[in-house]
Amino acid sequence: MKGIRGFKDILPGEVEKWQYVESEGRRVFGLFGFLELRIPLLEKTELFARSIGESTDIVGKEMYTFPDRDGDSLTLRPEATTSIMRAYLEHGLDVKEPVGKYYFIGPMFRYERPQKGRYRQFHQIDAEILGVQEPQADAELLVMLMRFLGGLALQNLNLQINSLGDPACRGPYREEIQKFLRSKSEKLCEDCQRRLETNPLRVFDCKKEECQAQLAGAPVVLDFLCPDCRRHFERVKGLLDELRLPYAVNPRMVRGLDYYTRTAFEVVAGDLGAQNAVCGGGRYDGLAEEIGGPSVPAIGFAIGVERLVMLLPEEKNYLRYPDVFIAALGEEAQRKGFALAQELRDAGVWVELDYEGKSLKSQMRKAGRFKTPWVVILGEEELKKDRAVLRNMATKAQEEVALEEVIKRVKTESRET
Ligand code: HAM
Repeated sequence: MKGIRGFKDILPGEVEKWQYVESEGRRVFGLFGFLELRIPLLEKTELFARSIGESTDIVGKEMYTFPDRDGDSLTLRPEATTSIMRAYLEHGLDVKEPVGKYYFIGPMFRYERPQKGRYRQFHQIDAEILGVQEPQADAELLVMLMRFLGGLALQNLNLQINSLGDPACRGPYREEIQKFLRSKSEKLCEDCQRRLETNPLRVFDCKKEECQAQLAGAPVVLDFLCPDCRRHFERVKGLLDELRLPYAVNPRMVRGLDYYTRTAFEVVAGDLGAQNAVCGGGRYDGLAEEIGGPSVPAIGFAIGVERLVMLLPEEKNYLRYPDVFIAALGEEAQRKGFALAQELRDAGVWVELDYEGKSLKSQMRKAGRFKTPWVVILGEEELKKDRAVLRNMATKAQEEVALEEVIKRVKTESRET
């Protein structure tokens, strides 16, 4: 039996990279005052339909939706933003402390066609600032994002930003783009002909070349911004300039979810191929109301962990190795070695040992595979004197030490290596 298509196992050897990016994320987000908020895997389907939008690809054809035993329609979360906002409102966090900065790391589910960098179960590192409408929040979030990505030594990243305006300025833009595309309607794919009537901005998202070709010369939303939205966008750009954070304005970026207002952004990686967005995000000042809450301005991002891990520099070693291997020869030594291993672990040392009573040669080979810097050799002769041999695997130097000294020595040596 095999696993499900688009659902990946993450094995030791690879998982260390995941642990590294996750712990770096927690560390950097902590510096900016973000707290972890854990959301459930399932929500009522209606929640995502209302927030992400009925006419988006995610809600239209990518959600894992099923009736539970009571007949309620449930959906495996395709993203985290909606659930974080739901939790914030449901628990009255907006009343206790209106400014909420939260992050979440975990798997998301979308029924997309699997390919390199695109899976049906994928993982996001998500961060959200709730309750702040000022452009400072946009700038701070982007600074945090780029600090985090930069700290991982990723190369060839490009931060693209846009403003999608608010519902007031998007209305006239929507009409304009609809008018523009209607004149080219017969050249659009079937999906886009439908999008043209239901949600014309979604045509920008279409991956098909024939549709992209029709978009040449299309009006862009930046030209339709109302004075408030324009001011907001200018201020965000001004703050990024002051902070010397490089970015490019991409007036054609619309994002694949309907809840965005004003600032929208993506981080694109030159080295990823077709699925090159390593992060996407933006402001969603209307989402709280869409799901039945009060008005809560908010902005956030989500990083695709699979794509992030693919971009980590190859040279760096993310693996960790045991501090010491215990090679024991003979039954008595094995018994002693087993006890010593537990004592060393109690003292905080990572110990590996052989379970099968193999020859010294074979145990040394095993220690080599574990790449431990030290091996404690317990032989019958040494044990008679309550001593053991400590071998430095790099220099091959060996010395005899008293058994009671072993823990102290290994602890100091492993700290020094
Ligand atoms: P999104 O653009 O749908 O935004 O996803 C964010 C990131 O998740 C993408 O840039 C990509 O790296 C990764 N991703 C998405 N789908 C897949 C997939 N099938 N396989 C692998 N990686 C994938 C959101 O999800 C928004 N909730 C972001 C946000 C947060 N906006 C405001 N706050």
